[in-house]
Amino acid sequence: MDSANTKKTAEVKITREGPIIITGNFTITDINSCVLQLDNDREVWLCACGRTQKQPYCDGSHSK
Ligand code: FES
Repeated sequence: MDSANTKKTAEVKITREGPIIITGNFTITDINSCVLQLDNDREVWLCACGRTQKQPYCDGSHSK
């Protein structure tokens, strides 16, 4: 079995008034075509409220 078959499928969870949580293997590309997240099995919280100071990532500002 090659490594492509062992990768965890990406899952996206939408939360109420909070971040978009992505787990698994995926990449994120910004508007300048720069890859922000390498393809690894991990969890990332993306801001969905627009209040973060660390775009595109959630910094907890949604709960303030
Ligand atoms: S969703 Fe957490 S700061 Fe925006």
